[in-house]
Amino acid sequence: MCGIVGYIGHREAYPIIIEGLKRLEYRGYDSAGIALFDGTDLKVSKTKGKVLDLENRVASEISTNAKLGIGHTRWATHGVPNDINAHPHYSNSGNLVIIHNGIIENYDSLKKELIARGYTFKSDTDTEVLINLIEDVKLKENVKLGKAVQIALNQVIGAYSIAVFDKNKPDEIVIARLGSPLAVGIGEDEFFIASDASPFIEYTKNAVYLEDEEMAIIRINKGIKIRKIKDDTLVDLYVQELQMNLEQIEKGGYEHFMLKEIHEQPNAIRDTYRGRLLVKEGIIRMAGVDDNMEKFLNANRIVIVACGTSWHAGLVAEYIFEDLARIPVEVEYASEFRYRNPVITSNDVVIAISQSGETADTLAAIKLAKANGAFVFGVCNVVGSSIARETNAGAYTHAGPEIGVASTKAFTTQITVLTLIALKLAKAKGSISNSDYRYHLQELELIPEKVAKALQSDEHIKEVADIYKDARNCLYLGRGYNFPVALEGALKLKEISYIHAEGYPAAEMKHGPIALIDEQMPVIVVATKKGHYEKVVSNIQEIKSRKGKIIGIVTEGDVHVQELADHIIEVPETLEPLSPLLTTIPLQLLSYHIAVMLGKNVDQPRNLAKSVTVE
Ligand code: F6R
Repeated sequence: MCGIVGYIGHREAYPIIIEGLKRLEYRGYDSAGIALFDGTDLKVSKTKGKVLDLENRVASEISTNAKLGIGHTRWATHGVPNDINAHPHYSNSGNLVIIHNGIIENYDSLKKELIARGYTFKSDTDTEVLINLIEDVKLKENVKLGKAVQIALNQVIGAYSIAVFDKNKPDEIVIARLGSPLAVGIGEDEFFIASDASPFIEYTKNAVYLEDEEMAIIRINKGIKIRKIKDDTLVDLYVQELQMNLEQIEKGGYEHFMLKEIHEQPNAIRDTYRGRLLVKEGIIRMAGVDDNMEKFLNANRIVIVACGTSWHAGLVAEYIFEDLARIPVEVEYASEFRYRNPVITSNDVVIAISQSGETADTLAAIKLAKANGAFVFGVCNVVGSSIARETNAGAYTHAGPEIGVASTKAFTTQITVLTLIALKLAKAKGSISNSDYRYHLQELELIPEKVAKALQSDEHIKEVADIYKDARNCLYLGRGYNFPVALEGALKLKEISYIHAEGYPAAEMKHGPIALIDEQMPVIVVATKKGHYEKVVSNIQEIKSRKGKIIGIVTEGDVHVQELADHIIEVPETLEPLSPLLTTIPLQLLSYHIAVMLGKNVDQPRNLAKSVTVE
C-alpha cells in the first residue's frame, strides 16, 4: 500500500501535492517523493523517511511555478526504503515519470527483457521496470503516452494504480488502476489524482473513481477520458458528489482504523499470496525459502520466536508445520527465549515473526540465535525494518500499514505466509500427497472470498456484543488449530475493551477454569466441523450444565452446536489448517464492537504502543 497524489491545472502543484501526501501517510510512510514540471524544468526530489522529511529537504529547491506534479508516499514492497527506491521513477530517456502503488509480479522477467534491449536500472523497484516498459513500447510502436501505457499494462501481471506524465506533453497525465484505489477530483480546468479523495476534498467535491482494469487520459482543456485497459472500450464518466469529511475518507469510511483493517483482510491475504501461490502450476514461489531450502530441510527443528499476536500466529504455524511438513517446532516468547540460555545450534532454523519488525525482544532473540549459529528467517510486514535486515532471509507479509494498535490483518497475513512455507516444505519433503497439496493450494486461494463471507456476520456479531458488553470476564476455548485462535480472541478483547479474558485449550477447561463458569460467564467456543468437533461439543455440554453462556463459532450449516449454544456465529467451511484464517474474524469483530459500545479508544488503547521497541 502506498499513497499517490497528482495535480494538473492552473494552481501551484507543490503545496497541493505535499499536503495531499501528508493526508495519505496512513497508507505508507517509509519514503516519499515528488516530481514537478513547469514546462521547462523537471524537478524530482525523493527521500527515505516521512513526508515531513521530504518537505524539509525539497522546500528550498522546488520550482513554485509548476502546475503539473505527482507525489508518492511509499510502503515498500520491492527494494528497501531508501532515496533511490523512493518514487517517482523515470524512464531511461528522462522523459517519462511515474508513481505507482501496487506490485508488478512479473517484473523480473520484464526487467531481463529490457536489460537485453539496453535499458539500465538505478533502483530495485518493479516501478522502474514498468516506466521503462512504457517507454520501450512508446518508442517501438511510435504511439502516444496513453496508448503506450495501455499496451504495457496488458503485459503486466500484478496490481497497480499509477500516474504517469511525459515531459514533452505537459498538459496530460495518464492514470490506470488494477487492484489499488484511484480517485480523480474534477475542478474548473484542473484535475486532482489521489489514492483517496482526502488530498482534494477542499478543492472539489466532484470525483470520479476508476474501476479495476480502467485507465484515464486527463488533459487540460480537454477533460478526462476513461477506457478499459484490455479492449480500449470507452467508459461512461460517472461523477460522484463527495459527502464524507477528511477523517472519514482516511479511514475509508469506517469509524476506526481497526475496523477498516479487519475489513481489509480479504485483500491483504490476496496481496500476501499474490505472485507466490501459483495454483494452476502447483507451485509456491518464495525466494527466501527457495534459496535456503537445504537449511530448512536439514534442520533438526524450527524454533519460532515472537511476541503478542505474532506469537499466536507462531502457535498456528507450529500446528501446520508439524501436521503437514512433519518438522518439529517449538514456539517461544522472544522475551523468555532471549534470557533463558536456550539450547540453539547451527542445526536449528529460527523463524522470527513481527508485524513492525522493530520489537526489541524479538530482535534480541534473533541476535542470540544468530550468535549460536542458527539460520534465522524473518516474517515481517514492514519492509526494511530492523528485524527484516537482521535476519538471514525472509518473506514479507505485504499486509500494508497497520495503524490500529490491535493487530488484525497482520495476524491473518502472517498465518498466510507461514502456511505457504509449510506447504512448500511439505511438498519438498514428500510429507504431503500431491492431491492433498493441490487441494490446500486451491483452498488457500479461496480464503479471501471466505473471509469476505465471514465479515458479513458483522451486524449479528454487533447484536451479540451488545448482550455481553458488560461482562467482567470472558473465556475463549478452542482445540488444535483453533487453540491459538482462542488465545488471540482473548487478547483482542482485553487489549481494547479492558475486559479480563482468557484463552484455553477447550479440554484444559476441566483442569481449572471450569470453576469460573456460572450464569455470568460468557464462553466463546470455536467449534468448527473438522477440528475435534465431537470433543468440543462435549466441552460445550460441560459449560452448559454449569449455566455458562455459550457463543459458538461454527461452520456454516451446523445444527448440533446451535442446539446447545446461546448464540452461534457461522464461518464458511475450509480445510482445518486454514480454519484460523476464518474463525479469527468473528472474534476480532466481537472485541471491536464491545470496545466501541464501552466507549474505549479502539485504535489507541491505553498503555499500549504499536511497536514495542523497549524491553
Ligand atoms: C496485539 C499486538 C501486540 C503485537 C506485539 C508484537 O494486538 O498488536 O501483541 O502483536 O507487540 O508486535 P510485532 O508483531 O510488531 O513484533
